[in-house]
Amino acid sequence: MRKLSDFAMVCCGAVAMLAFSGVSIAEEGAVTANITNGKSIFENGKSDGSVPACQTCHGEKAMGNDGMGAPRLANIGYVYIVKQLTNFAEDKRKDLTMDQMNGIAKGLSVQDRRDLAAYENSFPRDSEPSDLGALKTDGTVIGESYKGQILVRYGVVNKVPACQSCHGFNGRGADPVYPKIGQQKYVYLVNQLTHWRDGSRANDPMGQMRAVAKNLTDEDIHNAATFLSQAADSSEGDGYQINNKMVLEKVKIVK
Ligand code: HEC
Ligand code: HEC
Repeated sequence: MRKLSDFAMVCCGAVAMLAFSGVSIAEEGAVTANITNGKSIFENGKSDGSVPACQTCHGEKAMGNDGMGAPRLANIGYVYIVKQLTNFAEDKRKDLTMDQMNGIAKGLSVQDRRDLAAYENSFPRDSEPSDLGALKTDGTVIGESYKGQILVRYGVVNKVPACQSCHGFNGRGADPVYPKIGQQKYVYLVNQLTHWRDGSRANDPMGQMRAVAKNLTDEDIHNAATFLSQAADSSEGDGYQINNKMVLEKVKIVK
């Protein structure tokens, strides 16, 4: 259930984010994204060799890769992706896992970032959850899903707000500010929550994620990531869009 205050947050955050990604409300209708260029960079990199193919690490269908700590990019949010690529390019966010994304993002033009984000949000909403059994066998600590579900739904009284109050039901995303975290890759979720908690990732608007993560224990992080990595991509019948295309639908798509 969403409260009025959530709308206010999404509304005003949206304006800030749009400005952030170089898409102001006024020019919204004029922004174009070229999916063919996005697909071409995603699959082959840039022809001058300055940028590698994204799919090498993020997977052919942009579903992420636990072995590399690379996130799912498919359907997590158009504006959110443009923002992250901009943040990497400006060193406001550091790739703390492979030390690759800052250099890669610097090689992308503003238009390339929009084209890639549009392409990544054009995939059918597929499911490819992390293989927790295999990760466990390899020695990765896995949490308890039912405890993670409680945290995502209700938070911890006076300590942690419910994740879904911002990220939507089962973490399906609340475009344009709050990325989809449901069915994100397990290793990536654990890494990001740890980085928000120790402040090494600090590109969150108004410090929202750092405030949430500072009170999480290691167990909370493992539990939340266990639940979220497998969470059903449900609309709960409440009429909310779950494709995270709120802004993308207003962008003129060129093929
Ligand atoms: C060499 C492997 C590699 C390649 C190639 C690569 N990435 Fe990444 N990418 C990563 C890793 C690892 C992370 C996670 C960084 C972290 O944990 O801080 C990441 C993170 C991201 C994020 C942040 C997503 C989020 O949920 O916040 C975006 C967006 C992204 N990459 C886009 C791209 C695009 C677009 C390309 C191609 C132009 C690309 N990546 C190529 C490894 C790669
Ligand atoms: C007050 C709102 C709010 C709450 C509550 C919240 N988040 Fe977030 N979260 C955000 C925002 C905003 C971002 C995007 C930050 C950015 O723009 O880089 C984010 C990003 C994230 C990311 C990074 C996603 C990615 O693709 O890199 C993860 C993981 C995450 N949140 C997990 C959680 C979990 C788990 C909880 C509950 C314990 C939670 N969040 C609660 C606002 C919130």
